[in-house]
Amino acid sequence: MIPLAVPNVTGNESRYLQECIETGFVSSVGPFVTRLEEMVSRATGAGYSTATASGTTGLHVALIAVGVGRDDLVILPTFTFIGSANAIAHAGASPWLLDINRDGWTLDVAKLSRALQRETHREKRGLIHSKTGRRVGAIMPVHVLGVPADMDAICELARQYQLPVVADAACAIGARYKDRPIGSTGADLSVFSFNGNKTVTSGGGGMVCGEDEALVKKVHHLSTTAKAGADYDFDEVGFNYRMTNLQAAVGCAQMERLDEFVTAKRRIQKRYNDALSELPGVSPFPEPEFAESSCWLAGVILDPKEATAPIEQIQDALREAGIMARPFWKPIHLQRPYAGSPLESTEVADSIWRHILTLPCSTSLAEEDLEQVIKVVRGLLS
Ligand SMILES: Cc1ncc(COP(=O)(O)O)c(C=O)c1O
Repeated sequence: MIPLAVPNVTGNESRYLQECIETGFVSSVGPFVTRLEEMVSRATGAGYSTATASGTTGLHVALIAVGVGRDDLVILPTFTFIGSANAIAHAGASPWLLDINRDGWTLDVAKLSRALQRETHREKRGLIHSKTGRRVGAIMPVHVLGVPADMDAICELARQYQLPVVADAACAIGARYKDRPIGSTGADLSVFSFNGNKTVTSGGGGMVCGEDEALVKKVHHLSTTAKAGADYDFDEVGFNYRMTNLQAAVGCAQMERLDEFVTAKRRIQKRYNDALSELPGVSPFPEPEFAESSCWLAGVILDPKEATAPIEQIQDALREAGIMARPFWKPIHLQRPYAGSPLESTEVADSIWRHILTLPCSTSLAEEDLEQVIKVVRGLLS
């Protein structure tokens, strides 16, 4: 089977892991954790970073750090992985679900502006969602597939409505927005995931990055049980969310190859675009002009009216041919735990999500396997 996206751990991973064992630094204190934070700060342009056990825990603690509290709403595009919504729910809040745009499948700025203008009013306790009376605590744009959301426009609205921005950058390490690296786009905090299926993995892990040192320190404090001193003294309800040195050892070896991995990902997406997008009913994944996607997952989008076969049939045929192909995220408003969340129009998300076909895109994908995928997909869709 040609897999969809598997980790590429052929660099210094085993040497660094061995170093952890030999030195005894296997837990959440250790030189690799600090080194990984420095590497991610540099690569994302964020300035300051703190490592967490996962992207979801990173998002959770980031929301708490910017002041999201019980019964708040957090504005979230409905087209995202459930981890974004779960982090909001773990903070005691609920997502307020908005639509995405067609150009990048990220939070639609015009619809965001309209929702803020028509659906909220200001009270002493903050910006209020008029229908439910709940406070709006933050905006969480998502860089879908590694395509940056339009952060200048989103942050301008956030300033206007005095809302903090926590960007879900789980898939976006290596992406650029208007020639800026993805960690310096104006969000108060950006959160990355190093889950096993991501471009850079630490087995499991996350990173909360920001340009405000005090805010990132606050995240660090909260994610390390809010210790106030050396001897069992704590000053807040904290979380045991720190990444371990073992995970960070793998992460450091991976980060050493970030440019190589992102180049490989972008090259694979370009090969699919060049070879497949002139077929009937086939379009490439979006990449707006201001964005340089990190191309976390590659694939195509199929127009059901024009494609030569339904997407399910194509997926099954690919599997039979030994090629892993999968659908992509089902929007949050269609997920049972969030069925009751406040919701605006979801027209674009509804029209897109069923028609996405992700294709093999491991950074180690061999040329002959890539050729084989292209040949079989062309055969099915010509
Ligand atoms: C958009 C998005 N948000 C959040 C997450 C959660 O990250 P993690 O799996 O590291 O908790 C992921 C990926 O897994 C993701 O793709």
